[in-house]
Amino acid sequence: MKKLIAGNWKMNGSLAANEALVSAMLDGLGGKAPASDVALCAPAPYLAQLAGLLNGGPIAWGAQDVSSHESGAYTGEVSVGMLRDFGCRYAIVGHSERRQYHGETDTVVAAKAQRALAGGVTPIVCVGETLAEREGGQTEAVVKRQLAAVIHAVAHCTSEIVVAYEPVWAIGTGKTASPEQAQQVHAVLRAQLAAATQHPERVHILYGGSMNAANAASLLAQPDIDGGLIGGASLKAADFLQIVAAAT
Ligand code: PGA
Repeated sequence: MKKLIAGNWKMNGSLAANEALVSAMLDGLGGKAPASDVALCAPAPYLAQLAGLLNGGPIAWGAQDVSSHESGAYTGEVSVGMLRDFGCRYAIVGHSERRQYHGETDTVVAAKAQRALAGGVTPIVCVGETLAEREGGQTEAVVKRQLAAVIHAVAHCTSEIVVAYEPVWAIGTGKTASPEQAQQVHAVLRAQLAAATQHPERVHILYGGSMNAANAASLLAQPDIDGGLIGGASLKAADFLQIVAAAT
């Protein structure tokens, strides 16, 4: 399976900065399709810009969230149909920042994943434990609970999701999980997927949390790490391209 390297710009960017970043990335790829799948997830207002810059090229794009509702009186929300209108391929759901700052529960995250799939967008489902949960020996229980809610909602479509293991204590902190720590959790997630789908090997399980040009190769060498969800390092073309290169 090809690896998947997805950038998560979070709430960063501007029309001018995005254009410069994307053109540096496309230049860096030299018109060649990379050996791994590559995607960029931008804030909603810039998705149309990404569609213009990226559609038909080697880099796919995605949203950072999607509504759990189809349409209607949900002020501020963006539906999966709107995303598809522009050619959107992925939507991150359940990022820890949405769980933490926007009160998203496992149930809401599962509904979003289900809605995305039904609308033809691949959900990148984020799971991960906090530092307190890790220190309390709850890592496995937490990530399994988070993934179980999504598996329950998407049922026979489980093999179509992407999972991202993002230990909360590693996000934006510069503290990366060691390759062994990450692999251990990825193996747990793979086993959980195997109980839910006949093709657990088709599900990309990404690692996210301070992945960068220096540590990407050793993380991506682990048997159950199928790619990365990259925050900070996706805002620098050279760093992001080095991660893409490490995935090939
Ligand atoms: P980071 O963020 O790479 O900046 O740690 C990853 C993420 O939150 O997806």
